[in-house]
Amino acid sequence: MDSKLEIIRRSVIECTKCELCKTRTNSVPGKGNFQSDVIFVGEAPGRNEDQLGEPFVGIAGQRLVLALQDAGISRESVYITNVVKCRPPNNRVPTISERGTCRDYLEKEISIIKPKIICILGNTAFNSILGGSEITKYRGKIVKKNNQFYFLTVHPAATIYNQELISVLKEDINKLFGLIRELKNNKQISIDIDYPT
Ligand code: URA
Ligand code: SF4
Repeated sequence: MDSKLEIIRRSVIECTKCELCKTRTNSVPGKGNFQSDVIFVGEAPGRNEDQLGEPFVGIAGQRLVLALQDAGISRESVYITNVVKCRPPNNRVPTISERGTCRDYLEKEISIIKPKIICILGNTAFNSILGGSEITKYRGKIVKKNNQFYFLTVHPAATIYNQELISVLKEDINKLFGLIRELKNNKQISIDIDYPT
């Protein structure tokens, strides 16, 4: 593993910067290939993640892996993380303050890995990273902000309650890896939302 990422991982494991440290079992640092072209960003750990100290290892994780497999991609080949690294009690949505306090870790993960594209999973990540809302309206779209590409899709957990969304997630993940191939071949990709810089 990259040594700078290892330092972040240790800081996350020991972190007591917000109240969530009091109720967690384990913090959940990002995990995966530090040379990945894409970082997937979810909301926060759930029960299974809190128990194991790894991101997306529960049912939501199974859904994400299913969509990745559909695109011929293994979970080990990508990097997966969350906006907030400790589980909020009863899986409530992390507060603005908790997200703000934890933000530095995500920013560091991004600046070390330098992904070609960041895949935003669901509304909390959309709101925290780009100030957006209504992911179902914007999913499948490509955003460019401060010279970084983002791709928007639904949260894998949403596919548990709404079976139709699994095909949506698969379609989006397939599109995402198509875009990554184009970026690697230095092709222009068409941006849906270009933030003014
Ligand atoms: N949901 C998330 O947002 N992240 C996880 O790691 C697991 C479930
Ligand atoms: Fe630290 Fe983030 Fe965990 Fe809060 S959620 S204790 S800021 S790692």
